[in-house]
Amino acid sequence: MNDTLGDMRRSHHCNALGAADTGAQVVLMGWVQRRRDHGGVIFIDLRDREGITQVVFNPDRNAAVHEKAHAIRSEYVLAVRGVVEKRPEGMTNPALATGEIEVMVSELKILNRAQTPPFMIEDQVDVNENTRLASRHIDLRRPSLQSNIMMRHRAAAAARRYLNDQGFLDIETPFLTRSTPEGARDYLVPSRLNPGSFYALPQSPQLFKQLLMISGFDRYYQIVHCFRDEDLRADRQPEFTQIDMEMSFVGEEDIMAVSEGLISSVFQEVGRAAVSPPFARMTYQEAMERYGLDRPDTRFGLELCDISDIVAASGFHLFSNTVKKGGIVKALNAKGCAGFTRKQIDDFTDFVAVYRARGLAWIRVKEDEWQSPITKFFSEEEKQAMAARLDMQPGDLVFFGADQPGIVNESLGQLRNHLGKKLGLIDENAYEFVWITDFPMFEYDETEKRYQALHHPFTAPAEKDLEKLASDPVGMRSRAYDLVLNGSEIGGGSIRIHQKDVQVRVLEALGMDRAEYEEKFGFLLSALDSGAPPHGGIAFGFDRLMTILCNTSSIREVIAFPKTQKGACLMTAAPASATAAQLGELGLKVRRVEQS
Ligand code: AMO
Ligand code: AMP
Repeated sequence: MNDTLGDMRRSHHCNALGAADTGAQVVLMGWVQRRRDHGGVIFIDLRDREGITQVVFNPDRNAAVHEKAHAIRSEYVLAVRGVVEKRPEGMTNPALATGEIEVMVSELKILNRAQTPPFMIEDQVDVNENTRLASRHIDLRRPSLQSNIMMRHRAAAAARRYLNDQGFLDIETPFLTRSTPEGARDYLVPSRLNPGSFYALPQSPQLFKQLLMISGFDRYYQIVHCFRDEDLRADRQPEFTQIDMEMSFVGEEDIMAVSEGLISSVFQEVGRAAVSPPFARMTYQEAMERYGLDRPDTRFGLELCDISDIVAASGFHLFSNTVKKGGIVKALNAKGCAGFTRKQIDDFTDFVAVYRARGLAWIRVKEDEWQSPITKFFSEEEKQAMAARLDMQPGDLVFFGADQPGIVNESLGQLRNHLGKKLGLIDENAYEFVWITDFPMFEYDETEKRYQALHHPFTAPAEKDLEKLASDPVGMRSRAYDLVLNGSEIGGGSIRIHQKDVQVRVLEALGMDRAEYEEKFGFLLSALDSGAPPHGGIAFGFDRLMTILCNTSSIREVIAFPKTQKGACLMTAAPASATAAQLGELGLKVRRVEQS
């Protein structure tokens, strides 16, 4: 054999050898994590994805190989042959799985050299994320990323195993397709063969999985990429992965039961924590009332409390006028936080301003008085009622939000999460699941002046609410459900509309006329009219789930090749401009737009 490897073939990975292997002849291959020259003896930490083994070049044992080892630098790729030896007394490293042994090298092949890496291949080094993303292939060598990506693989494998066992079929659906409305903008792909026409990349396989049910496949799943051109946040990527499922002849309970089994299998595989279904349930309304968000973090208290009735007639006009105008006033009692300074309170005011709150009133509860610019506006009765409802005790600091319900809930809900973290109220080892149910079917979009589907337009309305479709769309509940884990929405789904006439009425309620819905969803409507079984499903945000399972704060830490907040891939420098020839073939012209 005269290939690069010669007659060397790997016998073990770099985390495999221990004291029991002493005396064995082994061949290891990997990267140079570290090279130390100790008075003539050269020690190298050889790394592969499994771990590290110390290999030793001793001039007294093999002078030629030792001489060759002088050329070795960080990240060189090596093949070594040698004998496993116990490390001398006092030289063992209990922090390393292979710390009791080392390999005394008798043959070395330098398989490849490497430029000095732009940063150390270690978790602790402080490197700017953009530098890491620009050299992601090197960044991915870091132990935490290796471990996250491997854990992701195991989680995906466990999910597939579970769903396969439950009779689900893995069926692929197209990426070059028509718009699948999930509330984001579409990514468009111009068609060369049909100039002026565009495919949309799927925001989810929603319509295809419904069509598969109509075709009779009964149970479908796919671990699949979805594409959404939306403003990116810490837990969002423009392309992300769903564990997507659909089932026929089922109701909510069936889908929840399968989902709980799926999540339990994944948790069991990655050994995070024992998960014990059934998961808690909470209606959307209760979640909004108590937590202000439809993805409540139930690991801690600090609940919101509506005091609109108490302050409706008060002398504090900001509050009473808000209530008169149909708004609400809610409060959050930060127990024991009276010590917060004015500066800190101002910071919280800035924090809620991000969520459009116009202010953040507060009361500091002292032993014998309430310290606050607003106390003077309340009567004794109002104060007593507030104190009782909010359990105000000396040492507490109470925050108030007054505005339209959407703004109060969002801003105080976010403040609650912020305070929960800041005050250390969250048990980081807890995994709290909760199903959110009974979502409204529609919400009114003030900017667009029309109704929008809260989930997506194919979600079935609660049967008893169907008659409200014309009279009171906002009062309708849907058959949608979300699964929330530790305050993160990790999945969402619904029972679907399977009757054409209901689907038409819902599309009409969303403001579409016949021409528009026939053009956009004609294929679905005719499919619903061809023998559609009752069906429903759910999709889990696999990246979000892995973010929690890998105990990291950024979704980018669990994706091999993620995009930046601006949707760029720094390694390949995508997106990039197209050549005039490419544009010509597509019949496109680029108009220069000023970058903001
Ligand atoms: P939904 O839009 O709720 O439902 O998406 C399902 C789950 O996908 C995750 N998710 C995301 N993760 C990362 N980056 C994003 N930009 C992003 N957007 C969504 C969330 C979310 O819960 N077709 C329906 C499902 C169904 O009805 O069966 C759908 O896509 O964790
Ligand atoms: P002002 O009368 O503007 O000085 O406000 C008095 C207090 O009420 C300040 O602490 C403001 O932060 C607070 N505040 C103003 N607007 C709101 C609002 N919409 N909700 C809650 N508090 C507010």
